[in-house]
Amino acid sequence: MEFSTKVAAPEKYSGACIAVGVFEPRKLSAAASALDAASRGQIREFLRSGDMDGRLGTTRLLYDVRGIAAERVLLVGLGPEKEFGEKQFRDCSRTAITAIGDTGSREACLSFSELPVSNRGVDWRSRQLVLAVADVAYRFDRMKSKKPQPRPLARITISAMSKQDAHDIERGVREGRAIAAGMALTRDLGNLPGNICTPTYLADAAVKLGKEWKLAVEVLDQRSMAMLGMNSLLSVSKGSRQPPKFVILRYSGAGRKARPVVLIGKGITFDTGGISIKPSAEMDEMKFDMCGAASVLGTLRAVAELEMKLNVVGLVPACENMPGGAASKPGDVVTSMSGQTIEILNTDAEGRLILADALSYAERFEPQAVVDVATLTGACVVALGHVCSGLFANRDALARELLAAGEESWDRAWQLPLWDDYQEQLKSNFADFANIGGKAAGSITAACFLSRFARRYDWAHLDIAGTAWKSGKEKGATGRPVPMLATFLMGRAKG
Ligand code: BES
Ligand code: MN
Ligand code: ZN
Repeated sequence: MEFSTKVAAPEKYSGACIAVGVFEPRKLSAAASALDAASRGQIREFLRSGDMDGRLGTTRLLYDVRGIAAERVLLVGLGPEKEFGEKQFRDCSRTAITAIGDTGSREACLSFSELPVSNRGVDWRSRQLVLAVADVAYRFDRMKSKKPQPRPLARITISAMSKQDAHDIERGVREGRAIAAGMALTRDLGNLPGNICTPTYLADAAVKLGKEWKLAVEVLDQRSMAMLGMNSLLSVSKGSRQPPKFVILRYSGAGRKARPVVLIGKGITFDTGGISIKPSAEMDEMKFDMCGAASVLGTLRAVAELEMKLNVVGLVPACENMPGGAASKPGDVVTSMSGQTIEILNTDAEGRLILADALSYAERFEPQAVVDVATLTGACVVALGHVCSGLFANRDALARELLAAGEESWDRAWQLPLWDDYQEQLKSNFADFANIGGKAAGSITAACFLSRFARRYDWAHLDIAGTAWKSGKEKGATGRPVPMLATFLMGRAKG
């Protein structure tokens, strides 16, 4: 998709379709007013006829409007002006873009940057528009033998009210595009089936990304991991025929001495549960158990494209969690890279086992902060559903920063407590602690487990079990939390 911005009167836009907003009940936005004036009242006339009142989520398409250069006018309902805010802006953008797509237009102009969203500038609006366009346009048909025709919509103009606005819109578009491309990469990797997206495939994808975007990429094999003492990670991989990989990606956008942000992504390319095997219903969705890893790659892509002025390290522990003759068994005790021993009471609590060693490995970078991203617990889906990710942190300032980045990008998280009171649930009779904490507060005890490997730096953990993919008819990876992480890093790069 090509994006451009122009300071021009909406009636002068001569492409296939111009989209303008209408508030409920039948109140014209500035751009709609301009079209109305140019058409000597045709827009108002149409609204008076009663077919459209401006309800959010509705659109009407008009052809041959007099005095207007565009072939079509798309009226987009914005809901009541008083209620118009960030969510309404996002919703009406999606609605408009979907409707434009349905017309088969090759190009369109969106007069949306002028819509009043308090506390958010035109850069925010254009970022959101670009992300909405990318989301609506996203298809995953790599595994289909017949590829559907690509949609014709190829060029979008975002109208600007002033030169300064145009400048800010261009910046927003550039950021939106980079984030959208990162999300698409994340979604593609997430959507690939487990027989293709193996740990080796993930590592190769990282190497390819490194070549494209000048990242230094290193891939550790099983032997190197064993030498480092990553027995917690390797205990998960033991039951699989697929060799595990540990990927290190480095982006250098600041001086050598600048301490990096380390991102760690859970890369379980398929989670059967291992010997503590999962029920078969919806087990296919456990191919998405590497979405944390994929989001780290996607975020690094955005960071590199935007040439952010900071250093970022991505760590991707990748393996399969399979049952088998060599697999870990409930009751097995392993010694992690940190030296702490773990009683594996449930082999299905494997994400934390691979993250533990990655968190220890992160110490060597003397990070300014570490954020791990993982589809870690079903309990998180029960607690928060699919709206927000679960956030845990050992520093409140870091939590606040991530929460704000989530709000700004509408890729939100909600903080849950990491109080010591919960640590007791991890007590083990046979090792330093167990890898599960019983039925209660499953997401919190999982985070508590991780916290024991993250004592030496500022650390946050994102449980994206409910947000990384959608189930049901729209089954597929979402690309979250790339927007949150990219926004967080943009903040760190400026700060
Ligand atoms: N990958 C799963 C978490 C998960 C489950 C994500 C369902 C999305 C949907 C993770 O490895 C897992 O199996 N967690 C267990 C932990 C339990 C054994 C303590 C879970 O959530 O049931
Ligand atoms: Mn599991
Ligand atoms: Zn898992």
